[in-house]
Amino acid sequence: MPKKAHKRSSIVDSQFLESCELEPANKQPISFSMVIFGGTGDLAKRKLLPAIFNLFLKGSFKSFSIISLGRRDLTDTQYRKIIEDSLAADFKKADWVRFKKHLFYLQGDLKSSETYDKLCRTTSKFSKENKTDNIIYYLALQPSLAPVVIEKLSERHVCLETPNRKVVLEKPFGHDIKSARKLNQIILKAFSEEQVFRIDHYLGKETVQNILYFRFGNSIFEPLWNRNYIENIQITVAEDIGIESRGRFYEESGVIRDVVQNHIMQLIAMIAMESPVGFGSKFMHDERVKVLQAMRPLCAKDLKNNIVLGQYGEGKINKKKVKSYVSEPDVSPRSKVPTYFAGRFFIDNWRWANVPFYVRTGKRLFKRSTYIVVTFKTPPLKLLGRTCDRLKENNIIFSLQPNESISLGFNVKDPAFLNRVYPEHMVFDYEKVFQTTFLDAYERVLLDCIKGDQTIFARQDGIETMWSLVEPIMKQAENHRIKLPVYPAGSWGPEEANSIIEEGGHQWVNL
Ligand code: BG6
Repeated sequence: MPKKAHKRSSIVDSQFLESCELEPANKQPISFSMVIFGGTGDLAKRKLLPAIFNLFLKGSFKSFSIISLGRRDLTDTQYRKIIEDSLAADFKKADWVRFKKHLFYLQGDLKSSETYDKLCRTTSKFSKENKTDNIIYYLALQPSLAPVVIEKLSERHVCLETPNRKVVLEKPFGHDIKSARKLNQIILKAFSEEQVFRIDHYLGKETVQNILYFRFGNSIFEPLWNRNYIENIQITVAEDIGIESRGRFYEESGVIRDVVQNHIMQLIAMIAMESPVGFGSKFMHDERVKVLQAMRPLCAKDLKNNIVLGQYGEGKINKKKVKSYVSEPDVSPRSKVPTYFAGRFFIDNWRWANVPFYVRTGKRLFKRSTYIVVTFKTPPLKLLGRTCDRLKENNIIFSLQPNESISLGFNVKDPAFLNRVYPEHMVFDYEKVFQTTFLDAYERVLLDCIKGDQTIFARQDGIETMWSLVEPIMKQAENHRIKLPVYPAGSWGPEEANSIIEEGGHQWVNL
């Protein structure tokens, strides 16, 4: 864990924190070379290079080089300018000047052997300069291009015999279970499992990591964390943005491959898993995978009552008119690709039997808001005997973004009434308690992978299980057997999503 400055530190606090710190060696600045396949793409510009720049500013690197590979014919200077222009946040010119010296561009066709010969020459040169064979091959590419790159790297034997080299793959890993298995076979010919980093940046979010610390670091909540006390769990990943400039990618992926198969499933795993027996990556993976394996698969006949899909039409976001999905660039005007998903899942194990997990996610919704609501059962009596009807259930809300907090909802006496309860929330707010020096999700996953720590990455068996859960839904959706209502941009999604949750006697919590 990165060290955080604690505003209210005391001697007792800091002694306690010391005992939980990682070995000092793990905090040392690190040397590496990183090759970014797709260096001019959206992901590299929006997420990776800003995260690398921030890590550089935080002093995480010693000697390093970033080699970005792309099709366009650019010089290093032209490429650096493109990246400088794409950095959104304010930064000091002098910092950028120090950073850009580490950034290089290599032009090449991903399918041509020549590109890889050139690449190998370049990485050997940088390995000598950086005095390390720690090389990270980051595939910031469409999933369909991954096998080509891996096979070419494999032909050059760049990897297996040099354990310090790693390959990073973005989600979705494969296009379905079959292609995910095939891709894995190809990868494991070139790399060993310890060298493979399958990214899900949701696992790198500080608030997602904190779910485990909150659950297993407090004895007051975990005894209640089961079917006896919990009524239902809701996960909302709402985005107000549309598909931006990713029409081509989104037409291939849709919301199920883009968010449900990975981010949503990992959030379910984090909120529902058992306590890992150790901090190592194997222990974490084992527990996450066990939950996913216990999830009840939805067969075709279950879909009608448990799944709602939708696609955004035109509407208004922040009072501005926005276009419909089918009018976005690179999207077919007749596209039947879903941009919204709501579903009800169950986990068939002793802890969770019959507790509904409601999930929903979508583009162009009312606002950007990601949170998990754990709702407890209502008390067995209406307060003192039968005298008060207005009891709200207790809940715990993990707010992941845009605000990062955990709140506990409980009832207190309303002083204005003789016999009425008032629902109140006790809130732990990250910004108020800690100075906000923690790493952003991409900074965290990048740093862990440079260091070789696989804890917050996905393992192949987990990936396959997640595919097996969404595949029946994808198949029915692709064969147009699930309705695809159009919802207005700026709303909370299709009306139909209410029926899934109302059927269980519950309601969506809109924050
Ligand atoms: C990405 C998806 O994995 O996650 C995007 O491809 C989505 O479509 C993004 O917008 C959401 O991430 P975050 O961290 O902004 O919630």
